[in-house]
Amino acid sequence: MRISLVCFLIVCLSCYSCSDKTKEDEKENLPTPTGNGNTGTNTTITYSNFTKKIIDNNCISCHSSAGLNVNPHLETYTQVKTIANNGRLKARVIDEIPTRMPPTGSLPQTVKDTLQLWINQGAVE
Ligand code: HEC
Repeated sequence: MRISLVCFLIVCLSCYSCSDKTKEDEKENLPTPTGNGNTGTNTTITYSNFTKKIIDNNCISCHSSAGLNVNPHLETYTQVKTIANNGRLKARVIDEIPTRMPPTGSLPQTVKDTLQLWINQGAVE
């Protein structure tokens, strides 16, 4: 029962991502540090050079007063830093627990790696 629901959702979401090619391309074109953002890279990830663009492209349509007004708002460094510090960014976007953010589809692994690196490096501005 549960498994078939999950399969159904996966099928729906893969159709969604095929049909929405432009949005998918946009995600792929996000900046990622050299070396795929894996640990060991010397790139410093800051909110202004990487994270803000990721959040603006993938989260702000829901998590802002101009968008769907879903809490928490993710419009400023302080707001995004809060979910980096309290573990919600990692849980929802990287580990996808209890459910994935954004709800419409996982972020590409390279983008998840960038966010993880940003968190590891202290979520600086
Ligand atoms: C299509 C709308 C939508 C998008 C896009 C979206 N979210 Fe959400 N988000 C929601 C909704 C609705 C909730 C509240 C329900 C829930 O927690 O699942 C939520 C809840 C959250 C929460 C609070 C829940 C918790 O675990 O404390 C965080 C943190 C979050 N989202 C982060 C993000 C991030 C980061 C992104 C972008 C990578 C993102 N969301 C993209 C709709 C969205």
